[in-house]
Amino acid sequence: MIIAVDGPTASGKGTIAVQLARHFGLPHLDTGLLYRAVGRQVWLNGGDPDNETDALAACAFDDALLDDPELRTEANGGLASRVSVHPAVREALLERQRAFANQPGGAVLDGRDIGTVIAPEAEVKLFITASVQERARRRWLEMTGREIEIPLAEIEADIVKRDARDINRKDAPLKAAPDAMVIDTTSFDKDQAFELVLEAVEQAFG
Ligand code: C5P
Repeated sequence: MIIAVDGPTASGKGTIAVQLARHFGLPHLDTGLLYRAVGRQVWLNGGDPDNETDALAACAFDDALLDDPELRTEANGGLASRVSVHPAVREALLERQRAFANQPGGAVLDGRDIGTVIAPEAEVKLFITASVQERARRRWLEMTGREIEIPLAEIEADIVKRDARDINRKDAPLKAAPDAMVIDTTSFDKDQAFELVLEAVEQAFG
């Protein structure tokens, strides 16, 4: 069984994907991490994330980079969003994601284009969303928990910018597949959101 979990930044899709993988005993791939690694590698190379050639060269990152805690920072998320616009970058990361999705026994993948491009054949497609204000609040809580001081308004502005870039890019934009279950987690905590998702998945599959 392939489970595709898409949605905007800080929607809770990553947590839900991890919980689903644990629940169904499936391997999980956070595809955003691949784009984050490309963004980080461009920076390490001294390249320009908006230049397709520089971004493509960075796709040859060493897998050890995937463990770099710097990948998770807001600044690196911005770089990831910029390199992910280039069709050559998306193409370079495609096979790795498809191979993961199609491994025997199935998998859970989360990202922006799993249900639409990477695994349109997925048996379960979820599109997890929440209001911009709630996503900003969650990100802010997460950052203050890590003792990173950043104004809420700055996070909100960054989320709006990233959403716009992800939604409006020509290649594999962020959007729900027509057959995806759309789940809005704005008024739910993590446990409630997972309960809602599990109910939807179990209802769909009896
Ligand atoms: O999910 P995460 O915030 O880690 O993703 C970072 C960036 O990578 C996103 O803003 C998006 O631009 C890009 N991305 C993508 N396609 C995916 C996963 C992430 O374009 N499947």
